[in-house]
Amino acid sequence: MRPLANRMGRLGTETAFEVLARARALEAKGRHIVHLEIGEPDFDTPKSVTAAGVAAIERGETHYTPSAGVIELREAIAQYLSRARGVSIDASQVIVAPGAKPIMFYAILALIDHGDEAIFPDPGFPIYASMINFAGGTPISLPLREENDFVPDVDELRRLVTPKTKLIILNSPHNPTGGLLSKEAVREIAKIARENDIWVLSDEIYAELIYEGTHHSIAREEGMAERTIILDGFSKTFAAPARGRPDDRGLPQAPRRDRRRAQQDRRHHLPYAERRVLCLPEHHRARARRRKDSRRPRAAGGRGGVPRRHGLRRDR
Ligand SMILES: Cc1ncc(COP(=O)(O)O)c(C=O)c1O
Repeated sequence: MRPLANRMGRLGTETAFEVLARARALEAKGRHIVHLEIGEPDFDTPKSVTAAGVAAIERGETHYTPSAGVIELREAIAQYLSRARGVSIDASQVIVAPGAKPIMFYAILALIDHGDEAIFPDPGFPIYASMINFAGGTPISLPLREENDFVPDVDELRRLVTPKTKLIILNSPHNPTGGLLSKEAVREIAKIARENDIWVLSDEIYAELIYEGTHHSIAREEGMAERTIILDGFSKTFAAPARGRPDDRGLPQAPRRDRRRAQQDRRHHLPYAERRVLCLPEHHRARARRRKDSRRPRAAGGRGGVPRRHGLRRDR
């Protein structure tokens, strides 16, 4: 049989799902498992969300939708992001996908050519390096060290930048360390991006999971709106995976159109039913936040009775 395309050999995976499968198999045999593998809340998707989804399906909202997402949802996301990030975002700058990962994929595919370099946080979400490789680029590791509170050393970042650097990926709050970029660090990184004409993919999917400190989006920094793609989603805040809300506000018209096309080709757009699920009023958000907060004492001292280890921050 003829082999698969070469690029398939460059595709990595999210090993947490493999560990999850093994953990579930052990659970099925009656073993008690403390789940540290998959980054999602330990409560179910709120009833109000699932009920809205079911009601939309029953109303027959199951047909094709615009590939960037239905406009009501994009408007709701634009309003939320404008408020939460302190930047002005219009619905036309928002693209919705089933989960955050497709957007990571499209953004990297739209930006990285063969020979380009993309800097990613290390340790970090494994899909960053996988996608950069898949697109034919070179992933450049930006080490995050415990002695530096798991935030990038800005001088080290500056040294990693070369004329080939096309993209810097940020993830704050950070998975898996909990590191949070300070306003000063964000400002310095923005300066590096501006001076070297580099795009930023800012993965802010954990922005609502902060207990101390404040989240600072790099999109808010001077001259950064047009070179930043904010990646956000519902998997973590609402325990509702496979629903994403990226904002491609930085992308000029042409790349934005191409990314929408890529999304269309992949049939990744959300059905109408998702629209209701995602237009969440503030009181649903507040309820989800309270549920998360009730988990905090356990997380702070170690999870499920497991003592705190190095690499897990106590305070977030
Ligand atoms: C940092 C980070 N970004 C993105 C994602 C992907 O989110 P989704 O499951 O919505 O695709 C995850 C999921 O664990 C994550 O930890």
